[in-house]
Amino acid sequence: MKSIYTSLLAFVGLAAAVSKYDEYILAPKSRTIHPVAVYQDKINGTVIGASSLAGDSPGSAVFQGVSAVTYDFGVNIGGLVSLTIGNKTDTNQSIAVTYSESSQWISGVACDATQDSGMDEALWFYPQGPGVVSVDRQHERGGFRYLSLVHNTTGEIEVTEVTVDFTPSPTTEDLRNYTGFFHSDDELLNRIWYAGAYTIQMCAIDPTHGDALIHSEETNSSVPSDSTRPWSWYYNTTIANSSVVLVDGAKRDRLIWPGDMHVITPSMFVSISDDAAITNSIDNLFSLQNASGKLPYAGYPFKQDTYSATYHLYNLIGVSDYYKFTDDLEYVQKKWNAWKRGLNFSLGFIDETGLMNVTSPDDWLRFGQGGHNIEANAILYFTINEGLTLAAALNDSSIKSSWEKYATNIKESANNLLWNATAGLYRDNETTTLMPQDGNSWAVLANLTNNATQASAISNSLRSRWGPYGAPAVEADDAVSPFIGAFELEAHFRANNATAALELMRLEWGFMLDDPRMTNSTFIEGYAFDGATHYAPYTNDPRISHAHGWSTGPTAFLSQYIAGIQLVTAGGKTWKIAPKLGGLATAHAGFSTSVGVFEAYTNATSDGGVSIDFSTPVGSRGGIAVPYPSCGGILRMHEVEGRCKDVVLDIQTSANQTGDIEVEGLVGGDWQLRFKCAAAS
Ligand SMILES: *[C@@H]1O[C@H](CO)[C@@H](O)[C@H](O)[C@H]1NC(C)=O
Ligand SMILES: *[C@@H]1O[C@H](CO)[C@@H](O)[C@H](O)[C@H]1NC(C)=O
Ligand SMILES: *[C@@H]1O[C@H](CO)[C@@H](O)[C@H](O)[C@H]1NC(C)=O
Ligand SMILES: *[C@@H]1O[C@H](CO)[C@@H](O)[C@H](O)[C@H]1NC(C)=O
Ligand SMILES: *[C@@H]1O[C@H](CO)[C@@H](O)[C@H](O)[C@H]1NC(C)=O
Ligand SMILES: *[C@@H]1O[C@H](CO)[C@@H](O)[C@H](O)[C@H]1NC(C)=O
Ligand SMILES: *[C@@H]1O[C@H](CO)[C@@H](O)[C@H](O)[C@H]1NC(C)=O
Ligand SMILES: *[C@@H]1O[C@H](CO)[C@@H](O)[C@H](O)[C@H]1NC(C)=O
Ligand SMILES: *[C@@H]1O[C@H](CO)[C@@H](O)[C@H](O)[C@H]1NC(C)=O
Ligand SMILES: *[C@@H]1O[C@H](CO)[C@@H](O)[C@H](O)[C@H]1NC(C)=O
Ligand SMILES: *[C@@H]1O[C@H](CO)[C@@H](O)[C@H](O)[C@H]1NC(C)=O
Ligand SMILES: *[C@@H]1O[C@H](CO)[C@@H](O)[C@H](O)[C@H]1NC(C)=O
Repeated sequence: MKSIYTSLLAFVGLAAAVSKYDEYILAPKSRTIHPVAVYQDKINGTVIGASSLAGDSPGSAVFQGVSAVTYDFGVNIGGLVSLTIGNKTDTNQSIAVTYSESSQWISGVACDATQDSGMDEALWFYPQGPGVVSVDRQHERGGFRYLSLVHNTTGEIEVTEVTVDFTPSPTTEDLRNYTGFFHSDDELLNRIWYAGAYTIQMCAIDPTHGDALIHSEETNSSVPSDSTRPWSWYYNTTIANSSVVLVDGAKRDRLIWPGDMHVITPSMFVSISDDAAITNSIDNLFSLQNASGKLPYAGYPFKQDTYSATYHLYNLIGVSDYYKFTDDLEYVQKKWNAWKRGLNFSLGFIDETGLMNVTSPDDWLRFGQGGHNIEANAILYFTINEGLTLAAALNDSSIKSSWEKYATNIKESANNLLWNATAGLYRDNETTTLMPQDGNSWAVLANLTNNATQASAISNSLRSRWGPYGAPAVEADDAVSPFIGAFELEAHFRANNATAALELMRLEWGFMLDDPRMTNSTFIEGYAFDGATHYAPYTNDPRISHAHGWSTGPTAFLSQYIAGIQLVTAGGKTWKIAPKLGGLATAHAGFSTSVGVFEAYTNATSDGGVSIDFSTPVGSRGGIAVPYPSCGGILRMHEVEGRCKDVVLDIQTSANQTGDIEVEGLVGGDWQLRFKCAAAS
């Protein structure tokens, strides 16, 4: 039940000061980085003065005989390593470095992996005396928290400084100058928001340093390479012609994947707007569209003959995700013909049932993707609706009735053929009883569901499957996939259960920060239901990426659903402030779009009182939605600092009213809402 109040006021506002909570930002202050500690204070063999290299000033570490030490950078980083060799060095000495994102793969022999089997080779230096030695640019490493220095011969070598030139986000001048922020009274959630933002920064790369994937034909589980015979590796493939692109993972694949982009884009826009990183990536993917309208599964150099029904659609969704935050209609216009050809390509797979029949298995590496698959059809339903929104913005009515009909049929047919009311879930297709995480989450967030009861049933059923480390993807051998987990989070929000969404964030994303095998700074791409760092689709555990853009969903959701800043139309020309605290006492977020600066701060008191202060761009319009406080009392809302301080709302609520109080027709500016319980006043 909701009550709607309408107000139309002229207003000249002042933007509220944006406080930035900089202390949570994980990105480095300078691109020149030094280790912060010797990992676990352990030294193998004799290294005199090893700890003197931790910190920003030079020191002296003398490696004597066979010896090794592992340095910890405190957070996951990427870049080019240099060692300054000191003069306490014998002739004919060599020293190696090995990298690892996880503490699990620290080794004196090899790096963690970028290939389907084995590990990656160590890099050897043969300094001819004092001076600086650096890895060549093709051996920059995209992700590592731990760097081991290995000396394997008799004699002595002195290292006086270890530096890393941080190469991610190459076009960003100040890596800590975020355009958005988030803060709440839950420290774990605050850290999750900032780790998501930093993970995306790690995944923004110089496209001339993509992974060469040189052994992709040789490496598989039947051709093992062990750590004593590691594979060579290079980052020297140009994957796009631009200055920066967004890739799936910092260490690997270093490829542009449209599915990953759908999670990255909103999280990036609420934290570190980088329009170019997004449009460069979309442009690159669209340049690979073929004559039939088919869009790629992944960017170059991934083989281009693969068709994925879902990733094809994510290419299209990428354009509307970008438009939502930027209002850049000109960009959409340039892509529009290709977009329509792309959607028509998918519509060609719809059969007499009204559903798309998926004929190729490629998806996010789940099994059983085929036939009238619920996930693919929910994504198609979503994409058609996105297309209708874009078409309306472009005044293209040519496809309207045809696309609407397709959408209606998908919704009706999916509910008739695939909904199981007993389970409160959709099944994967009509020949199975498997009820997937991906399709059910997508069904709710795409509004394929017929009503709120059905959405709640799905939210509750998915929740009942959680284990101690997160939500399982039963369609991928119970892997915990933070990619599909992001869609589950959004499903809980859409089913109006913010509490469940926060609980899953703490469980799954909290584990991804705090477990000692994790980097405590960036999010891993997947792991096992029992918490093992094994990701079902891969045979090679050291290969798992620990900085994966598709795992950053919470950043967007905390800003949009918890702090409640929602862009209703492109760029936020119209908006809705709809905080749902999910049990928190405070939530404060802000971010900027081309339309202006948005900020909302909600504070709930333990007796049931609530206050919201928010600020939206002058010239924009919008409304608010706030749950009825549990106690009865007086709710007032008015503008602050404006010429016209009219109270737009002054109502008495009673205890235990359900649903939201909504106010519509507000103009952009600075607003205050105050609610006091009657008993407390
Ligand atoms: C070795 O280097 C140190 C400091 O870098 C310097 O003080 C010293 O004079 C050098 N010794 C020789 C023999 O070059
Ligand atoms: C140091 O020794 C330990 C125990 O043998 C080993 O696990 C570790 O990988 C070694 N570290 C390096 C950098 O060689
Ligand atoms: C160091 O020497 C050991 C023993 O000979 C060998 O197993 C290992 O591969 C060497 N380390 C590297 C990085 O080559
Ligand atoms: C931060 O970025 C904004 C643009 O988003 C720019 O106006 C400002 O000058 C930057 N500040 C610093 C310190 O770089
Ligand atoms: C990448 O480096 C390897 C080794 O140097 C070389 O064989 C290969 O040709 C390089 N590839 C490109 C695209 O430069
Ligand atoms: C239907 O779903 C099941 C479970 O995911 C899968 O094994 C099967 O292959 C699917 N059918 C088709 C036609 O893909
Ligand atoms: C989907 O298409 C394939 C290939 O054309 C066909 O064999 C299969 O029967 C179709 N499945 C359904 C459920 O219509
Ligand atoms: C529907 O769900 C119930 C409960 O999980 C299950 O027993 C039944 O087999 C399902 N039916 C179908 C057709 O999947
Ligand atoms: C909600 O939708 C489900 C599934 O289509 C349907 O079975 C149920 O009757 C609907 N409930 C209400 C209250 O409309
Ligand atoms: C979701 O679908 C229902 C009908 O199935 C419709 O009434 C409702 O407006 C839709 N919600 C949104 C946000 O589109
Ligand atoms: C929302 O989820 C919580 C668990 O986080 C659960 O206790 C509660 O019952 C759910 N609410 C509804 C309305 O389903
Ligand atoms: C993880 O990082 C946080 C700061 O973001 C720090 O307070 C905490 O001590 C770190 N935990 C570990 C185990 O390093």
